[in-house]
Amino acid sequence: LPRNIYPNRRNSAGVDIAHPPELAELREKLAYWRRDDPVATPTLRASVGGERIAICAPQTGKVVGHWVESTETDVDLAVARAVTAQPAWDALGGEARAEMLVRASDLLEENTARLIDLCRREAGKTLTDAILEVREAVDFLRYYACEARMLFAAPLPLPGPTGEQNLLRLVGRGVFATISPWNFPLAIFMGPAAAALAAGNCVIAKPAQQTPLIAALAIELCHQAGIPRDVLQLVPGGGKVGAALTANPQITGVAFTGSTRTAHAINRSLAAREGAIPTLIAETGGQNAMIVDSSALPEQVTRDVVGSAFQSAGQRCSALRVLYLQDDVADEMLDMIKGAFRALTIGDPADLDTDVGPVIDADAKERLEAHVADMADHGFPVWRRSLPGDCEHGHFVSPTIIEIGSILDLDEEHFGPILHVARFPSGGMGQVIDDINSTGYGLTLGLHSRIEEVRRFVESRAKVGNFYVNRNQIGAVVGSQPFGGEGKSGTGPKAGGPHYVARFATERVTTIDT
Ligand code: NAD
Ligand code: ALA
Repeated sequence: LPRNIYPNRRNSAGVDIAHPPELAELREKLAYWRRDDPVATPTLRASVGGERIAICAPQTGKVVGHWVESTETDVDLAVARAVTAQPAWDALGGEARAEMLVRASDLLEENTARLIDLCRREAGKTLTDAILEVREAVDFLRYYACEARMLFAAPLPLPGPTGEQNLLRLVGRGVFATISPWNFPLAIFMGPAAAALAAGNCVIAKPAQQTPLIAALAIELCHQAGIPRDVLQLVPGGGKVGAALTANPQITGVAFTGSTRTAHAINRSLAAREGAIPTLIAETGGQNAMIVDSSALPEQVTRDVVGSAFQSAGQRCSALRVLYLQDDVADEMLDMIKGAFRALTIGDPADLDTDVGPVIDADAKERLEAHVADMADHGFPVWRRSLPGDCEHGHFVSPTIIEIGSILDLDEEHFGPILHVARFPSGGMGQVIDDINSTGYGLTLGLHSRIEEVRRFVESRAKVGNFYVNRNQIGAVVGSQPFGGEGKSGTGPKAGGPHYVARFATERVTTIDT
C-alpha cells in the first residue's frame, strides 16, 4: 500500500447539528455538563495543596472552573517518573500502543458533549468550532494509531550486498514535553502527545494556561483507556512551567505549537543544554495571504475570504490575514466582501447563529485594538463592525477590515478577526508572492483563479506549507491535508500526515554477519 493510505481508517463523523434529533441530544447533554465544576491539577504532585486559580469564560468573564499550577518540583517528579516508565512503554510495541490510542479516541468521542462544554467555557469556541475540535482530536489519535501499527510492527530489512543482514527499526526517543496553545485546546493538545506516545515515548503534556480544563479531561480519558499515568502526565502551567520542562536535561524532545517568538525561546533553551542533543518540533505562526485574480468567481471568493478571516474569531494559525485583490476586480470584490462582513453575527458562542465569538483574553483584545488604532493613526482606511450590547462583559474584538499597500506594511501576525486587504496590478503576481515570501512565514496561502498556469506559477514560487486553491484556507483535515509550515512558521513535519510520527522516534540499524 502507498504510505498514506489506511483502508480501515475513517475520520470522526462528529455531531450533525443540521439534524434536529442529534442537536437536541447534544443540547441536553450540554445542559447536564453545565452544572459541572471542573478543576485541572498535575497528574503527579510532589506535595499537596497549591492555590486554585480561577478560569473565566472569555465571553462572559464568569468563573467556569479552576486549575492548580505545577511547581518546579512537580515538573522534576513528573520527568523522573516518565524516564523510569519509558523503556517498558517502548517495549510494548506499536500494536499495543495503538490499541490504547484507539480506545482513548473512542472515549473522547463518547465524551464529545463534555469536551464541547469545556471548549466553550474556557476557550469561548462556537458550537461548530467546538465540534470540529473534538473531531480533529479523535482523528489525530486514530491516525497516529495506524502509524504506530505500521512503523513499529517489525524491523525493515535492508539490502546486504556482502551477505550480511541489515535491519532498520524505530524506537522512542525518551521523554517528550508537548507544549500547546489555547486556540486548539484539545486537538493540538492531544495530537502531538498522541504521536509521541505512538512512537514509544513518555509524554509530559503542558496545556496553555488559559485552557487546562479540557486538557485535564483528555488526559483522564487516556488513562481510562489504559495509558499508564507515569507514561502520560499533565503539568498545568504557563511559560514558567514550559521553560522548566525545556531546561530539564532528561527531556529528550519538545513538540511545541504556539507563537514563533516562544519557539525561538525554546530553541535557545534547548541549545543551551549540555549533553544529548534534544529534538525540537515546532509548529508556529503565520502571515497568511490569499491572492485573487480577475478570473475568480466573486461569490466563492466572498464566502472563502469571510470564512478564512473571521471563523474562530480569526484565532487560527491558518487564518487569512492579507487578501490580495487584482486591481480590475478589487472594488467589486471588496464591496461583496464588506456585504458579507456586515452580515456576520457577533456574540455569545452558545448561540447557534454566532459566527464570531470572543478572543481569548483581555491581553489579546488589548493587542488587537492597539494594532487597529496604530493602523488608523498611520492613515490606513479601516472598516469595523459595531459590537452588540451583550458583548460588553466579554473579550470581544469587532471584526475589522484594513486596506493596506502590501503585506510589508505589517510587522507581525495579528491573531484575531482582522483582515488586511491590498491590491495588485495585472502582471504583478510575481511581486506579490515575493513579498509574501519575504515575511519569512510560510504556513497557508490561498489562491482564487480559474487559470491553470496561474496555479502552477504560484505553486512553484510560494514557500508555504499548505496551499489552497479555489476554497477557504482553514480546517485542514487529518490524513487528507497534513498541516504545518516552514521558515518562521515551523520546523515540519506535518501534523496529521505520514511523516509525523517517525520524527518522534529514533532509528537504529542492526547488522548481522553470517
Ligand atoms: P504562545 O507561544 O504564547 O504559547 C504557546 C505555549 O507555550 C503555551 O502553552 C505557553 O504557556 C507556552 N510557553 C510560553 N512561554 C514559554 C517558554 N518560554 N518556554 C516554554 N513554553 C512556553 O502561543 P499562544 O498565544 O498560546 O498561541 C497562539 C499562537 O500559536 C499563534 O502564533 C498561532 O499562529 C500559533 N499556532 C500555530 C499552529 C500551527 O500548527 N502552526 C497551531 C495553532 C496555533
Ligand atoms: N489545522 C488548523 C487549520 O487548518 C490549524 O485551520
